[in-house]
Amino acid sequence: MARYRIVKKFRSNGEEVIIRYPKISDGDDLLRNINSLVEERAFIALEKKQTKAGEKKWLATLLKNVRGKKIVALVAEINGKVVGLSQVEKNSKDAFSHVGGFGISLIKEARGRHIGERLAKAVIAEAKRVLKVRIVTLGAYACNRPAVDCYRKCGFVKTEIMKGGIKYHGKFLDRIRMVKYL
Ligand SMILES: CC(C)(COP(=O)(O)OP(=O)(O)OC[C@H]1O[C@@H](n2cnc3c(N)ncnc32)[C@H](O)[C@@H]1OP(=O)(O)O)[C@@H](O)C(=O)NCCC(=O)NCCS
Repeated sequence: MARYRIVKKFRSNGEEVIIRYPKISDGDDLLRNINSLVEERAFIALEKKQTKAGEKKWLATLLKNVRGKKIVALVAEINGKVVGLSQVEKNSKDAFSHVGGFGISLIKEARGRHIGERLAKAVIAEAKRVLKVRIVTLGAYACNRPAVDCYRKCGFVKTEIMKGGIKYHGKFLDRIRMVKYL
């Protein structure tokens, strides 16, 4: 079965949204997307723009790990363009192999249209099926209201807060951890 198979299709604001596995030719879109998030200073772990070579390497590793069932990654596509990416990575340690780490980001233009919620739910369902994880966890900036509210809607609950646990352009902000049992 092709790894870039389509998992789900739905309409949002009159446009068709395709949720599918990523492919190597998504590289340019993913690079543009991550750099637009860096530029807007989104609440993500990266602060520096990525290079084409670096992104290519990162994507090749991601796809290899998807094939190896270490990660499930899905993209959201609208009109042939990738607008978001979400992934669950299975913990590599034996004792934690039932736990997956979750991440998600959408470009600005695609937000607030319930694409994040549907992409997150789709990637978590795939992670349960493919990676056999039972728990999904995430770390987020406590002040990132859209993300935290979206995660709650997806069934995550807050388990801890680490004061000053995450850096944001020279400031130490609070980091929360959330968990979802599958
Ligand atoms: C976080 C993110 C993935 C959410 O995706 P989204 O498509 O914008 O969110 P959705 O439209 O699916 O909204 C789902 C729920 O999240 C909450 N939400 C979304 N946008 C919100 C906003 N601007 N303010 C408050 N809550 C918001 C709402 O509860 C919403 O449900 P509702 O509209 O029925 O009330 C997206 O905003 C994003 O990629 N942001 C930039 C990158 C980022 O912050 N990633 C997370 C790093 S931890």
